[in-house]
Amino acid sequence: MRLLFLGPPGAGKGTQARRVADRLGVPHIASGDLLREHVATGTPLGVEAKRYMDRGDYVPDDLIIELVSQRLDEPDAASGFVLDGFPRTQAQARSLDGYLADHATPLDGVIRLVVPSDVIVERLSGRRLCPTCQRAYHIAYDPPDDDELCDDDGTRLITRPDDEADVVRRRLCVYEEATEGLLAYYEDAGLLVRVDGVGEVEEVAKRVDEALGAGA
Ligand code: AP5
Repeated sequence: MRLLFLGPPGAGKGTQARRVADRLGVPHIASGDLLREHVATGTPLGVEAKRYMDRGDYVPDDLIIELVSQRLDEPDAASGFVLDGFPRTQAQARSLDGYLADHATPLDGVIRLVVPSDVIVERLSGRRLCPTCQRAYHIAYDPPDDDELCDDDGTRLITRPDDEADVVRRRLCVYEEATEGLLAYYEDAGLLVRVDGVGEVEEVAKRVDEALGAGA
């Protein structure tokens, strides 16, 4: 099963994509997580990417395409994956199409999570992230068992620098300008399924599972 999640920042892509990937036994491949790993370890790619990420802008296509392609080449992705945050531009979508065609592994579906801006701002202002496993929590809606530690690995949770209010506004604008066009791209391909992303995490998860059908 090869799926991808599309939606604005804070729509819940990571939260839902991770659950679906766990259920299907395939890797959850999030372009933002891959970039943050490079930022955290201070690689040249991470240093360059951080300049864009801190402003709320997209990193250049060539850089992210190379990074995601390398990840897709790893053995655990051979039997399927759930992509989250990639592609976000027409160039990235064409590159992914080329990659999948070369490997004779077409996409099975694209989940579009629909969430209004006011809900997004509230979600991002309360988000906390585990810097080790990248699991996202919310201080009110999805808190960890211990106030400040990740349930999975005990790491102290952090606030993402790009969750500052002015950077969130910029990220929302960039999404509208650069990514909303992809919705038509995948709709035309007959792959896009719209899912209402408002409601409790479990409620949205149920809708996602229904959208994917009994076979997913
Ligand atoms: P990335 O990390 O991908 O950020 P994003 O797309 O902006 O998405 P988020 O991670 O902010 O949100 P999400 O939809 O995953 O929501 P989440 O599940 O965490 O990218 C960061 C940056 O990297 C980009 O700005 C760009 O610079 C760069 N980048 C990445 N990919 C790129 C690409 N392909 N091309 C170019 N640049 C790229 O949920 C959010 C919060 O809400 C959490 O606190 C969660 O607990 C909570 N929550 C989730 N669901 C619910 C619910 N149903 N009810 C209540 N709370 C909920």
